[in-house]
Amino acid sequence: MSREIRITPSILNADFQNLDYEIGRIAAQSDLIHLDVMDNIFVPNFTFDFQRASEIIHSCPIPVDAHLMVADVDHIAPAYAETGCASVTIHAEATRNVGATLRSIRKAGARAGLGIKPGTSIEDYSEFIDDVDMFLIMTVEPGFGGQSFMHSMMDKVQRTRSIIGDRPIWLQVDGGISLDTISEAAQAGADVFVAGSAVFKADNPSEMINSLRKLADSVVN
Ligand code: DX5
Ligand code: ZN
Repeated sequence: MSREIRITPSILNADFQNLDYEIGRIAAQSDLIHLDVMDNIFVPNFTFDFQRASEIIHSCPIPVDAHLMVADVDHIAPAYAETGCASVTIHAEATRNVGATLRSIRKAGARAGLGIKPGTSIEDYSEFIDDVDMFLIMTVEPGFGGQSFMHSMMDKVQRTRSIIGDRPIWLQVDGGISLDTISEAAQAGADVFVAGSAVFKADNPSEMINSLRKLADSVVN
């Protein structure tokens, strides 16, 4: 089955003091920029508050895919849609009312993403499928870039692909995606790939994105 491949570089490991430059040098090769929002509560790390995130979203030349790793995300999630994100992903583990929050993201004009941590079962959340535009299967524990890809998540990716069936829902993987792991994730059924350190630690980040895309494409299409 042929699928459109999307590469969404994470700026978590980019130079936060020079984000315009960092984003500028990969924007042309990227489908969306993946913005990791962490609150030091849901995960043991902090990146941006809403105000700083909004500034980044407003100055970003391409669409933004916000990955909200924040506790009690129900109220803030639609604000990320309203401020201009193309896609807003909430974590099932951090959301009180999953269905209503997904619908409020859509209503505010963004694609609604539902993410789960490695220990969370996708079957527990498949009932929300009609409110979901993208599932995110974490392939590391959320919180930090540069961790090792969890091969053991591929079974979950496959099961999620089966649950999606022929619906136009994207299936994103996040964590440890590199030239060594992207083919396996694509084979399992992923079509949206977050890559942080693989891109920003590369000598040539934009070429790395092209190489990642080529590999995933050759598996799927
Ligand atoms: C981890 C973040 C990821 C991270 C990926 O919690 O959600 O987006 O930046 O970084 P790499 O690609 O280095 O694993
Ligand atoms: Zn992320």
